[in-house]
Amino acid sequence: MATQAVHKEQPLLSVQDLKIRIQMENGVMNAVDGVDFNIYKGKTLGLVGESGCGKSLTSRSIISINPKECETSGTITYNSDSELALHGMNLLSLKPTGKQIRSIRGRKISMIFQEPMTAFSPMYTIGNQIMEAIRIHQTKNKKEAKKIALEMLSKVGISDQAKRFDQYPHEFSGGMRQRAMISMALSCNPEILIADEPTTALDVTIQAQVLELMKSLQAEFGMAILLVTHDLGIIAEMCDEVAVMYLGRIVEQAPMREIFNNPKHPYTKGLLKSMPRLGGNKSKRLDSIEGSVPMPINMPPMCGFYDRCKDRIEGVCNQQAVPKTAISDQHMVRCFLYTDQREGEAQ
Ligand SMILES: Nc1ncnc2c1ncn2[C@@H]1O[C@H](COP(=O)(O)OP(=O)(O)O)[C@@H](O)[C@H]1O
Ligand code: SF4
Ligand SMILES: [Mg+2]
Repeated sequence: MATQAVHKEQPLLSVQDLKIRIQMENGVMNAVDGVDFNIYKGKTLGLVGESGCGKSLTSRSIISINPKECETSGTITYNSDSELALHGMNLLSLKPTGKQIRSIRGRKISMIFQEPMTAFSPMYTIGNQIMEAIRIHQTKNKKEAKKIALEMLSKVGISDQAKRFDQYPHEFSGGMRQRAMISMALSCNPEILIADEPTTALDVTIQAQVLELMKSLQAEFGMAILLVTHDLGIIAEMCDEVAVMYLGRIVEQAPMREIFNNPKHPYTKGLLKSMPRLGGNKSKRLDSIEGSVPMPINMPPMCGFYDRCKDRIEGVCNQQAVPKTAISDQHMVRCFLYTDQREGEAQ
């Protein structure tokens, strides 16, 4: 079964059958329900979907930083050649507070968030916090760590670094804080950068600058990026491959161009229709997908998009779990329109 474009090399990180359940007062929520994807060196995989689809839980589980109430299963295999002790090991089997995952988290696999204040403490200067991260993971030498920190601040386009180094997070603008967070995340030269809505809180000009910055740092350091976003414009700009997520599942996955030129899943089509176009008619109301993402509590086996889908087939889509279909060896979709279960109708 193809779930991702054909790659000759081994994935740097492989997520298989990831499930995250949360016990709620009114039942069990299957917030992530059997997610598979691979991340490759030097490539960017986009994880896209509306708010509440399970993108953050999925990406945070890679470095085991989900809250305690999340019951996680599946395998996340990290195939780093520089971490031979952990090569091929299931990261989910490691203790979330243990030494082994801490040796990877923030060093080999770094994460940046929508809100940089979650990464920085308001109590210490930006410079000290970046330097501390470097001292924990890279070099104990204070002078050397400061030199690396100043270089990283310069790399992310922060001028007057010596002055900025001694400032507190609240003295930075939103865009500058985001840059500083990226410099902290990249200061240990990670193999994988997980970016969860990294530019959502920024205005469009700063957003474009931060995305450019991520691209140029990727070209320089060759890191793999998992880019989590609800914004298909960012996907088009940044990604090699795309996984479209809905209600805890990946419903379509393909190379970026294939997703835009040949979308199959009604949800992907809906997302594309609701995407603003450059030079488009501004007075025309954008088509948005009607309804909102439901809470996946005590869900029977059926298509999670059923209630919102204009193409739904009663008695089929609401009666059984939706299997994956390989449209090609690079393109996977999870929808009954593409299986042979749709009796008597053309595909
Ligand atoms: N700690 C939690 N307790 C209960 N529900 C949660 C918790 N964290 C996330 N959720 C729920 O899990 C679903 C997926 O969340 P999340 O991964 O944050 O979605 P996304 O990042 O795609 O917006 C949502 O319905 C959200 O409300
Ligand atoms: S499986 Fe059925 S309800 Fe779900 S997206 Fe496809 S057509 Fe729509
Ligand atoms: Mg999120």
